[in-house]
Amino acid sequence: MIVVTGAGGLTGLAVLRALARRGGAARAFVHRDAVATVARSAGAGEVVVGDLRERADCRRALAGARRLYHIAPRMSDAEVEIGHALIEAGRSAGLAHFVFHSVVHAQCDAMGHHRDKRLVELALIESGLPYTLMQPTMYMQNLLPAWETIRGRGLYRLPYSEQARMSLVDLGDVAEAAAAVLTEPGWDGAAFELCSGDRLTRVEMAAVIAGVLGRPVRAERCPLDEWQVAAAGSRTPFQLERVAAMFAHYDRFGLPGGNARVLRMMLGREPTRFDAFVRRLAAHGAEGLQ
Ligand SMILES: NC(=O)c1ccc[n+]([C@@H]2O[C@H](COP(=O)([O-])OP(=O)(O)OC[C@H]3O[C@@H](n4cnc5c(N)ncnc54)[C@H](OP(=O)(O)O)[C@@H]3O)[C@@H](O)[C@H]2O)c1
Repeated sequence: MIVVTGAGGLTGLAVLRALARRGGAARAFVHRDAVATVARSAGAGEVVVGDLRERADCRRALAGARRLYHIAPRMSDAEVEIGHALIEAGRSAGLAHFVFHSVVHAQCDAMGHHRDKRLVELALIESGLPYTLMQPTMYMQNLLPAWETIRGRGLYRLPYSEQARMSLVDLGDVAEAAAAVLTEPGWDGAAFELCSGDRLTRVEMAAVIAGVLGRPVRAERCPLDEWQVAAAGSRTPFQLERVAAMFAHYDRFGLPGGNARVLRMMLGREPTRFDAFVRRLAAHGAEGLQ
């Protein structure tokens, strides 16, 4: 049995679908009852509803399991504590493989959610459990919240430099690689930086999108406070601070990391490129990406 945490979220549902395509038996750890049905339709055979902050819930979710794919809540103030709780529960359960969904450049202390993932990586390395570290770069799917404005107004706006160079990956490819690691032997003891090979500025992304849509798209930087006002309803003050630190880091350094050879090796094919992703999104919408 493979347990997937964060299973009702964007990444978790993609991993459940990829596991189902490989016939992997998955138990979804979800936060709310309401998401249980969604997790089941994505392929989960079992669903545990619980809170990752509760050690008893972590132990209950891992009972009888052999493998874990841990996806931490996005920008959580409890990310390290949750990582430790799952490592402890994993040791008690006798897990054969703990796969951690981390992030590229977990070394970047200036971004708190990267630093927290690095601390969990280290705890896992020191735990004695067989482990694999998955380190995806920025998902191409991060385009989705901006997609209607891009299509409707021809504007791609974010509060960091439009010249910052970002490495990109299709979440579908990340999920396929995760499913391979969880269902095939021989992937333990490794860290994999996952990217498509595209390292694009927002100006270059806008040009690709304009080519696909057949009309102009301009990349712009918007003021941080404008973005924060729009995001305040869906994020806690802690998360808003973390995102601001992330944008400040992107502004100075971009996020250019990773090399496509890694994902090519894992998938046994070329990773999905940004232009193909945008063509699929334009033709079929977000549903068509699944
Ligand atoms: N987006 C990227 O480009 C990218 C790249 C690399 C790595 N990552 C990492 O991927 C991870 C997942 O991101 P995502 O976009 O898939 O996030 P997401 O859609 O927000 O999913 C996270 C899930 O965790 C659940 N959750 C939150 N708090 C919980 C708790 N206390 N107990 C149990 N479940 C809880 C959420 O449920 P509720 O919503 O019901 O609370 C949600 O279903 C993050 O750690 C992120 O840093 C993202």
